[in-house]
Amino acid sequence: MQVTRIKVVAFNGSARKGGNTAILLGYVLKELEKEGIETELIEMSGAKIHGCLACRKCSTKKDHRCAQTGDMGNVYIEKMEQADGILLGSPTYVADISPEIKALMDRACLVSKANGGIFRRKVGAAVVAVRRAGAIHAFDSLNHFFFISEMIVPGSSYWNIGIGLEPGDVERDEEGIRTMKTLGQNMAWLLKKVND
Ligand SMILES: Cc1cc2nc3c(=O)[nH]c(=O)nc-3n(C[C@H](O)[C@H](O)[C@H](O)COP(=O)(O)O)c2cc1C
Repeated sequence: MQVTRIKVVAFNGSARKGGNTAILLGYVLKELEKEGIETELIEMSGAKIHGCLACRKCSTKKDHRCAQTGDMGNVYIEKMEQADGILLGSPTYVADISPEIKALMDRACLVSKANGGIFRRKVGAAVVAVRRAGAIHAFDSLNHFFFISEMIVPGSSYWNIGIGLEPGDVERDEEGIRTMKTLGQNMAWLLKKVND
């Protein structure tokens, strides 16, 4: 019997490694792992990643890569291309997402378009940490990437948001944790259907 290996890569766009966004992502990943899905968490904190230069070289080269080199852009794009599922996690920064995750989304989006949709029908989901307000806007920002990339997005029992200020505070957001676990279960279910 041939066993299909399913892999999910998660990006934590927070400036803080191991903070609330990472903790929330961890709950989703744990559920995926329970279903035999391989996972990888990438902490973007401190990583060098520039925004899109709008040079359009990806459209002429069509080599599945961004023309900008010397930062982490292509390393991350390659990870996304190799995965069956992509989780994008961000803290809420001034009612939106972190600049690092935005830079990745912009560059990956153009590379995908330039190459006929390299993320098409992969499964994707967004996760957001927030102290008080702006999480829905951040959640929407992340989801824009999945929908324009023709990806399939599973839901949960609430929007995928966890509440906390200091690292670890989200552990006390019982509903937020439950939302992440349900997301992980639904993502695993969907990944298995899509990759059957
Ligand atoms: C630059 C910056 C901007 C922030 N803006 C908001 C905001 O608009 N709304 C909010 O509720 N929390 C805001 N916060 C708080 C973080 O979203 C919150 O502490 C979150 O848990 C951080 O996640 P992390 O531990 O993964 O870094 C901000 C924090 C920083 C550093």
